Amino acid sequence: MTIIVTGGAGFIGSNFVFHMLDKYPDYRIVCLDKLTYAGNLSTLAPVMDNPNFRFVKADICDREAVNRLFEEEHPDIVVNFAAESHVDRSIEDPGIFLQTNILGTATLMDACRKYGITRYHQVSTDEVYGDLPLDRPDLFFTEETPIHTSSPYSSSKAGADLLVLAYHRTYGLPVTISRCSNNYGPYHFPEKLIPLMIANCLNDKPLPVYGEGLNVRDWLYVEDHCKAIDLIIHKGRVGEVYNGGGRDGRRNIDIGKLICKELGKPETLITHVTDRKGHDMRYAIDPTKIHNELGWLPETKFADGIKKTIAWYLENREWWETIISGEYQNYYEKMYGNR
Ligand code: NAD
Ligand code: TYD
Repeated sequence: MTIIVTGGAGFIGSNFVFHMLDKYPDYRIVCLDKLTYAGNLSTLAPVMDNPNFRFVKADICDREAVNRLFEEEHPDIVVNFAAESHVDRSIEDPGIFLQTNILGTATLMDACRKYGITRYHQVSTDEVYGDLPLDRPDLFFTEETPIHTSSPYSSSKAGADLLVLAYHRTYGLPVTISRCSNNYGPYHFPEKLIPLMIANCLNDKPLPVYGEGLNVRDWLYVEDHCKAIDLIIHKGRVGEVYNGGGRDGRRNIDIGKLICKELGKPETLITHVTDRKGHDMRYAIDPTKIHNELGWLPETKFADGIKKTIAWYLENREWWETIISGEYQNYYEKMYGNR
């Protein structure tokens, strides 16, 4: 079994590569990644010498490079994690989101059609459903919830999802889609809320909370997400969408307070800054379908996962300090300098 994992040098993709190599020692895992600012080859250092692993630096939009890889590897399965993934960056500059997230997906699926695969899996997001109101805690996203996006990021992911379903219906491509909630855990790029707050807290820097910080996210430990995708590509029904979430909604402000508490820092580090444009209020997933069909449920509770995550950032300072000492400085100044 050969699996091409695109975006495997990023946060969730790298965790998935580790999960698969560990669980299936006879599988060949080929990582295709452009190594954008979010891709980090050092993350994959522990598996670079594994004979069942190959890394290829390429853009999923580069048809020639993608086709060449399919000719060399004859993949059985393609799991597409490669994407521009940060909402704030999409608000600043949507173009590359449309390019990678939509056209890149089409390019990969064209190769799948041309060379034949048993499964194309699209890693999507709950953000395609838009948001839920704070005063309706009874509401959750199901697979039937209409697509209703808010940001250029979520719109580009929704566009890709529609294309994936169209390739299934029109060309019979054997596809599946997973729409998971916010992930957290090791190797999370420190531009996202949780790792940014951990890094800032450790450096005694302000923890920027957008607006009042009442927005709710349904946090899912990354390992649980990897297990969900593993189940879907092996046992999921072709043409289906599966939602996955932690059923553990938290307000951003409470995440900030919890991180301060865990690291023994004062809550006065929390600083309210200008809100994100079009900021989604609440995400909450109903995982009934994946639970009933595939037996998946998240195993790590947020209270434990956040402790594990903080411990990882303490033990792996070099990984994130290298990131925040480079080009990230310019990003941080641009996004938070006058906020
Ligand atoms: P990430 O930004 O950490 O990593 C993205 C990876 O894709 C990087 O390694 C980057 O180099 C690579 N990449 C970007 N453009 C590429 C291109 N054109 N060609 C090849 N590689 C390219 O992202 P992540 O948080 O790991 O998210 C992975 C996927 O999961 C994305 O599709 C995202 O939409 C989805 N998702 C993320 C979350 C979350 O909470 N992070 C939740 C649900 C779904
Ligand atoms: P983020 O990690 O960017 O994920 P997403 O926007 O995809 O949900 O943000 C999570 C939440 O945290 C979101 O409501 C925006 C908020 N946020 C802050 O309050 N401050 C920050 O510095 C960042 C990056 C996010």
